[in-house]
Amino acid sequence: MTDNPAALFLGQSFEGAAENLLFKRANRHGVVAGATGTGKTVTLQIMAQGFSDAGVPVFCADVKGDLSGISQAGDTVRFAERAGQMGLSLTGKAAPVVFWDLYGQKGHPIRATVSDVGPTLLARMLELNDVQEGVLTVAFHVADKEGLLLLDLEDLRALLAYVGENAQTIGREVGNVSPTSIAAIQRALLQLEQEGGKAFFGEPALRLEDMMRTSLDGRGQVNVLDSTRLMNSPRLYAAFLLWLLSELFEQLPEIGDPEKPRLVFFFDEAHLLFNDAPKGLLEKVEQVVRLIRSKGVGVYFVTQNPADIPDTVLAQLGNRVQHALRAYTPAEQKGLRAAAQSFRTNPAFDTAEAIQGLGVGEALVSTLDEKGGPTVVAQTKIRPPDSRLGPATEAERAAVMAASPVRGTYDTAINRESAEEVLKARRAQAARIEAETASAAAEAKAAEKAARSAPAPTRERAAPRARASSRQTPMEALTKSVLRTAGTTITRELLRGVLGSLKRR
Ligand SMILES: Nc1ncnc2c1ncn2[C@@H]1O[C@H](COP(=O)(O)OP(=O)(O)OP(=O)(O)O)[C@@H](O)[C@H]1O
Ligand SMILES: [Mg+2]
Repeated sequence: MTDNPAALFLGQSFEGAAENLLFKRANRHGVVAGATGTGKTVTLQIMAQGFSDAGVPVFCADVKGDLSGISQAGDTVRFAERAGQMGLSLTGKAAPVVFWDLYGQKGHPIRATVSDVGPTLLARMLELNDVQEGVLTVAFHVADKEGLLLLDLEDLRALLAYVGENAQTIGREVGNVSPTSIAAIQRALLQLEQEGGKAFFGEPALRLEDMMRTSLDGRGQVNVLDSTRLMNSPRLYAAFLLWLLSELFEQLPEIGDPEKPRLVFFFDEAHLLFNDAPKGLLEKVEQVVRLIRSKGVGVYFVTQNPADIPDTVLAQLGNRVQHALRAYTPAEQKGLRAAAQSFRTNPAFDTAEAIQGLGVGEALVSTLDEKGGPTVVAQTKIRPPDSRLGPATEAERAAVMAASPVRGTYDTAINRESAEEVLKARRAQAARIEAETASAAAEAKAAEKAARSAPAPTRERAAPRARASSRQTPMEALTKSVLRTAGTTITRELLRGVLGSLKRR
């Protein structure tokens, strides 16, 4: 019963049936919900390891640090009885884990370039308002047009300064930019930097292949993003996960409905994604989730209450594991009703009552069947994990990192020539031109003076008056000409994807 190769064993129903998640329906997404301490993280762990065992790479965030134990051998004795009741014998084996950490401390650093992240998500990370987001978009447009590489936050800062200095020209050629908005974005950038965003932006940028490996024994790599520190910056956390999801969406080819997913993505603390997100962003999330299915990626939202997830997204989550919910307050009662209504009822029990009566490590389970319809909801005892339940020690984590297949690939940041350097050079050039113009003007003035005191014929040969009085500064002139020629020489307009990140096609 537990060794169906086409399905992931979740646990055993109270009636004694195996509750499975079919691999070929796993790209139809899912949700794991439940109050604090009811077993969500353990469910995530057994699902992640189940996918890995089937050769499917997994990405998950470790919000509290307790998921890291998936990298270690588990205690087969402690859970022998629970496993035995389900006809399961625990292997106790660890999953093939790669630890990641945006800050590069508890895992290999993950970096992306500012260009890749794009204006939409960056605006979200920076908590910009609509006007400021508009200015940021103009700045990106200028960078695209001028072929300025935006790799790290220094580049963005330099670009914004440049856009500010040339606001008039850019306003005419691209779009309006107000100094106040630029200043506000610069301040937000500073804050993002202080929150640790500095480490995230730059190179070497993450290559998705490095998250989608299978180990030599055919198991899928389990990518664990340490998010213990990242959770202090909820917007950065949510925007980062959304970026990763949109990268998968942009980069992976269509494959329709595969026998098993190509990658499974767990979005823990999913409410952070939706909390006061603007409507436009919600629509995009909904779109990405809907379309990523045919790229073979399964997305599983983990959250306390399914009501945290907008209906349009929730409706797309076919595989459901609902742990216990409390229902004391009216809001909780509403959440409970919503959770109960999302299940196909079981005549044997009342769904809402059952959700409240579940013990720790138990859940209501409904998955998609062969035909793609939901199974009748079942009260289920969730299986114990093979790997360790609880955190890995720092020494264990270090050992995993030392043996990692990506060791050395991302550990050191590189800084190649990009917008900051280019603009600096351009500024130097402008300064040179200015100096030359000034000295030419001085010469001309001297010549004029000389000519005035000299006899008439020589006056004609006097140097023409330099355009020192022109209101245009050399930097402005340079910008204008670059903006103009850029439009024609870079014939391909750079394409930006659904969330504003750069498409590499
Ligand atoms: N499937 C299971 N098998 C055995 N024990 C379990 C199982 N699920 C949960 N438990 C026990 O319940 C405890 C709490 O579970 P877990 O950490 O998954 O809760 P949670 O819902 O993630 O809580 P939080 O919201 O605080 O993160 C675990 O430490 C473990 O002792
Ligand atoms: Mg948890």
